[in-house]
Amino acid sequence: MTRILLGVTGGIAAYKAADLASRLCKEGFAVDVVMTKNATEFALPLTFQTITRAPVYTDSFAPIEDYSVEHISLAKRADLVLIAPATANVIGKIANGIADDLLTTVLLAAHAKPSVICPAMNTQMWENPVVQENLARLRARGWNVIPPTSGVLACGDEGAGRLAEPADIVEFVKTVL
Ligand SMILES: Cc1cc2nc3c(=O)[nH]c(=O)nc-3n(C[C@H](O)[C@H](O)[C@H](O)COP(=O)(O)O)c2cc1C
Repeated sequence: MTRILLGVTGGIAAYKAADLASRLCKEGFAVDVVMTKNATEFALPLTFQTITRAPVYTDSFAPIEDYSVEHISLAKRADLVLIAPATANVIGKIANGIADDLLTTVLLAAHAKPSVICPAMNTQMWENPVVQENLARLRARGWNVIPPTSGVLACGDEGAGRLAEPADIVEFVKTVL
């Protein structure tokens, strides 16, 4: 079974990642969800756990119940890494090799895997040169970037920054695989 590591970060679009996880499961993929601490402020681990019928990983230092599944194992067993939504923060961390939580630590260990990242943020953040520079670094290292779409954002602004549609993300993932 093809296994996707779905990283969910702390943006307002985190709730859409539940739809994405559901679509991936319906396509027959096994999905390991890793959420940042901030993502759990926007969406419940229980939601993803129920959709994927699997444990959701949120904390490097939680008591280990299954010794076959720690950060290196999660990285090793992934056939593809998918980050959706990706905050400006996590994009910056990945681009600079920072690994200060479970998700970014797993990503360092999974650098050789096919990787897809779906940024979502306010337009002003999206247009910030530092965000674009960080994404250019990721592209140069082989990351596939699915750019955000334009529309009315959660903050009321209008412009680029909306998470790509989950159905389109699934189609892209299938193409990469
Ligand atoms: C209500 C709210 C909505 C946010 N939405 C976004 C967003 O869509 N994209 C983004 O990059 N950051 C967003 N942020 C900021 C992130 O939550 C913040 O940068 C955080 O440190 C990200 O943590 P993480 O990358 O570890 O998940 C939002 C913050 C708040 C309070």
